[in-house]
Amino acid sequence: MFRVGIWLVAIVVLGSTLVKSHEESGEWSCESDSESRVAAEFRPGLVTLDGHADDWKGVDGFDFPLLPAVDPDDDHKYSGGKMTLKALHDGKDVYFLLKVDGDYVYSKGDNNKCPSVALMFQVGESASYHNMGGCKESPGTCTSKSCRGYEVDIMHFSIGNAVPGRLYGGNVIDNTQGNGGDRFGHLVDLYAWNPHCRNLDGISPSGNDSSAQNDWKGAWWHDSFTTHSGFIEEDSPYASSGKKGTYYFEFSRSLRTMDRLQQDVQFTIGQSSKFSVAFWYPVDGNPWHGSGHYSISCDWLPLDISAGSSVLSKSASGSSWDAANAFALLLSVVAFCSSVFLGYWVSKAKQVPFTPINNL
Ligand SMILES: *[C@@H]1O[C@H](CO)[C@@H](O)[C@H](O)[C@H]1NC(C)=O
Repeated sequence: MFRVGIWLVAIVVLGSTLVKSHEESGEWSCESDSESRVAAEFRPGLVTLDGHADDWKGVDGFDFPLLPAVDPDDDHKYSGGKMTLKALHDGKDVYFLLKVDGDYVYSKGDNNKCPSVALMFQVGESASYHNMGGCKESPGTCTSKSCRGYEVDIMHFSIGNAVPGRLYGGNVIDNTQGNGGDRFGHLVDLYAWNPHCRNLDGISPSGNDSSAQNDWKGAWWHDSFTTHSGFIEEDSPYASSGKKGTYYFEFSRSLRTMDRLQQDVQFTIGQSSKFSVAFWYPVDGNPWHGSGHYSISCDWLPLDISAGSSVLSKSASGSSWDAANAFALLLSVVAFCSSVFLGYWVSKAKQVPFTPINNL
């Protein structure tokens, strides 16, 4: 039953990710399919955050075409194919795997000449997908007050300084400074009210708040790499340029964070969040620009954080539960009888006269 359900959802999602939209005379329009959604099932102890995808094999993926985010025209979609997205949670952390075909390009130290990915989540109820929250204020006037309700949470990973298979994101040094930065691998935790009012967590035009953290961790990989034993920076560029293959980006974050500034999305088991995924690629070797990214959708996409698999324990059959209950009842009757007997035996034994041991 459960499996059939998953497949039905997968088929519906796969069959309905055709997204039509375009920008007409400055007026944004987007017809996204309301049936599309991504499920993050409860699958504890399954994946390791290492950039490798082997451990995700048993998890259903969702495919999305990558259209230019600024002008989602089908003619200009990413030529490397669709992005496959997988998600799950273990009751504590949520995990994401992004898989996209792409010839290997890597330019050490130059983020814009390497592929890059970002996740964006709705935080404030009024925050729109379009315009990163859509607050109407400009950089001089956008504040946590004037843009209240328009907050989005962003995780951006630029791999120009990130060794494949190594973990980046929240680290002791940047988190001690109380912001969402990552000086080692540029896997940063941001928030925004619109594209021009975008800051690292904890940094704000009206003053910094040192309570913020980078709550994300992640790693990347490309399957043209031939070693699994662990790269170091000197191995760059890790593989020869132009090799056919697939990029993998793997991320995790705790379902809840200690954010008190309305800069992090908070996930709730059994509920949905709204999100989207962006992808940058140096097409024909040309460095990408901030707004020149592809997106898997032109509006928010629901992400369902499923509750623990009650379906699975139910399918473990009711009769075995009955047997367990009967056995427990039997055990408690035996225990009760033996305690009655023990009490009787002890009280009877008391009538035997006490004999001091040194008299023997
Ligand atoms: C906030 O932090 C940023 C980055 O560390 C720094 O450049 C800026 O001067 C700080 N602003 C204030 C008001 O302290």
